[in-house]
Amino acid sequence: MAARAALAYETGMSIRLQTVTGPALLPLLPVLARLRISVFREFPYLYEGDQVEEETHLRAFAASASAGLIVAWDGEVAVGCATCMRLTEASAGVIAPFRAAGIDPERVFYFGESVLLPGYRGQGIGVGFSAAREAHARAVSDCDYTAFCAVIRAPDHPRRPAGAVGLEGFWRNRGYTPYPNLVCVMHWTEIGGAAEVENRLSFWLKSVSGRALP
Ligand SMILES: CC(C)(COP(=O)(O)OP(=O)(O)OC[C@H]1O[C@@H](n2cnc3c(N)ncnc32)[C@H](O)[C@@H]1OP(=O)(O)O)[C@@H](O)C(=O)NCCC(=O)NCCS
Repeated sequence: MAARAALAYETGMSIRLQTVTGPALLPLLPVLARLRISVFREFPYLYEGDQVEEETHLRAFAASASAGLIVAWDGEVAVGCATCMRLTEASAGVIAPFRAAGIDPERVFYFGESVLLPGYRGQGIGVGFSAAREAHARAVSDCDYTAFCAVIRAPDHPRRPAGAVGLEGFWRNRGYTPYPNLVCVMHWTEIGGAAEVENRLSFWLKSVSGRALP
């Protein structure tokens, strides 16, 4: 699949972003699951994904009333995707830190993953994912904040690639503020690992209504 995408890219086709909701998502689940698995293998996620589990995860977006999934298309090939839904529809472990911090989950629209094949990065598609998700949040909710979380990795993590540049600058440039103490825990098997391990992810928030950040 990566090879097909790279070939399509070389033809100079422009990338189209499409917001997909509800049952229209169902036929896309296998390809989007493969995208997640391929991109999340990389540092910092190091995620050993499973196709069936991934499709199950994504199916929840098709069943959700608020979810939107932004797909980046290079011609007929999906080369990236980004997800979002009301925080109240996310898993209990994602909602819990907000409640603990006194932030009403009803006021928050949650951005899940954004993944893009490496050959397509650095040309504004990630900026488009952010804008499309914020537009979707505004269209289907009156939430005050959009929020996402990112895995916390030690600066000296042994798998950190030499010269790796984090996405912190990218997120700040999209208007997001880090909340290093607003943390959720997720478990997954890392590449080369035998069992799931605990990973901590910290949140970033942005006001999309003009209301002050909590
Ligand atoms: C997160 C991710 C989707 C970002 O995608 P991306 O398409 O490379 O990001 P962009 O090209 O939109 O933005 C990168 C920079 O290029 C700039 N850029 C380059 N060409 C651009 C264009 N034509 N239009 C707008 N911005 C452009 C952006 O402005 C941005 O710089 P800035 O932050 O200084 O403004 C991608 O890095 C990825 O898939 N990473 C791996 C998975 C991951 O870690 N996901 C996040 C957690 S789930």
